[in-house]
Amino acid sequence: STFSSQENRTEPPGPKRLPLLGNLLQVDLKRLDSTLFDLSKKYGPVFTVYFGLKKVVVLAGYRTVKQALVNHAEEFGDREVTPIFYDFNKGHGILFSNGDSWKEMRRFALTTLRDFGMGKRISEGKIIEECNYLTEEFEQHEGKAFNNTRAINYASSNIISSLMFGKRFEYKDPDLQTMVERDHETIHLTGSVSILIYNIFPWLGPCLKNWRYLMKNVEDGIVDAKRIIADLKETLNPETCRCFVDAFLTRKQSLEDSHYHDDNLIYSVTNLFAAGTDTTGNSLQWCLLFMAKYPHIQGCSHKITVQEELSRVVGSRQVRVEDRKNLPYTDAVIHESQRMANIVPMAIPHKTSQDITFQGYFIKEGTTVLPLLTSVLYDESEWESPHTFNPSHFLDGEGNFIRRDAFMPFSAGRRACPGESLARMELFLFFTSLLQHFRFTPPPGVTEDELDLTPVVGFTLTPSPHELCAVSRQ
Ligand code: HEM
Repeated sequence: STFSSQENRTEPPGPKRLPLLGNLLQVDLKRLDSTLFDLSKKYGPVFTVYFGLKKVVVLAGYRTVKQALVNHAEEFGDREVTPIFYDFNKGHGILFSNGDSWKEMRRFALTTLRDFGMGKRISEGKIIEECNYLTEEFEQHEGKAFNNTRAINYASSNIISSLMFGKRFEYKDPDLQTMVERDHETIHLTGSVSILIYNIFPWLGPCLKNWRYLMKNVEDGIVDAKRIIADLKETLNPETCRCFVDAFLTRKQSLEDSHYHDDNLIYSVTNLFAAGTDTTGNSLQWCLLFMAKYPHIQGCSHKITVQEELSRVVGSRQVRVEDRKNLPYTDAVIHESQRMANIVPMAIPHKTSQDITFQGYFIKEGTTVLPLLTSVLYDESEWESPHTFNPSHFLDGEGNFIRRDAFMPFSAGRRACPGESLARMELFLFFTSLLQHFRFTPPPGVTEDELDLTPVVGFTLTPSPHELCAVSRQ
């Protein structure tokens, strides 16, 4: 009987591997997601690659990724805590944890953020207030070219800050600048080749500059978080809960609940801050870059454009979330920007929580699984023109907005991004407010064609450093 069960254990196919190195020489570590996408065309939607001795199963294409993450949510829903992820959070927090602790922290984060208005009117108000600061900041450049990365990240960071800490920071505040810059670097370096190598050969750690740098960043981040938490603790009043940290501290005092300890507090806070700032800021940056690249979509022609639609439907008053249903073209453009930008190309690595036979292949418990979001957002059997910026992907023949199942930038299933509703509200309000005020153009002397859409590859895909002009429309 052992024999017959062995026979059924066909593992997913994959390229031939070398001893020790596995398939490392066959993949481009600088653009891993594209290489894996190419391999999926040869080996099919479920295939195996070896990073050194480490076996990884890749899931490709909308149908397969959905079937795994949604229909087999339990089996494919654990997090692979790679060596660097373990160094970051020691198994605590939300992003890089598993089991009961993860479940409790994720649930607590979702309910608490909702109580503080995530996806509701309160956060709409906070975001609208922040839109004004961001617009002011852009206005100070008086139409001259500038790099908008920092201002945008400060704005999105402030939304998380107000939920987590009950306050926003001035863009000039060095504490804000340090925290945002540090997370930005951490996310970038986590996807660097040397850290990919570290995950395969962890004993190399102390020899790697990037690893030492990341460890310093983690320590500094903890010191900052502890300071802010200590300040809030001093003025804690369980009757008037101001923010996520207050809610956690109150829970910690009132319950003999083993999961509500300092490590989970610190890492949940730093996780939400890191996961919520750069991703949202980065997506907004892509939206603006696409607008500068495609002026016929942004405005200045007489057909339907973002700015024509905004003027017609909203005029010059502040845009509200409820306007979205009347702004189908603008909504489609934001969705198409997120699709093309594909900012988290391989999601965050998953791990099987038990043995599973999937699409006829046997995958053992504890196997690393990469849901290749690139292959979903660019799936040739789902999108009419996967490699072209085309808002019609999200519009029907009459110009109404349509949802598309393969729109999966937030992943899906048990580990799907818990910040999706907040991120979508931020993107919508920031984008529309900025487009009401400004026309985004390349710097003088640069043509639209010359604007570079090649991403900088880290753990996320960010636009290459660039400058744009924010020309006032008044
Ligand atoms: C996880 C995308 C904004 C908090 C993720 C994942 C993706 C993602 C792809 C991995 C899911 C998986 O492992 O399958 C994005 C994008 C964003 C965004 C594209 C913005 C446009 C946010 C915001 C927050 C947030 C604003 C915080 C409020 C998290 C957390 C996780 C996560 C805590 C880990 C979930 C878990 O492991 O259970 N996000 N995210 N994200 N995101 Fe986001």
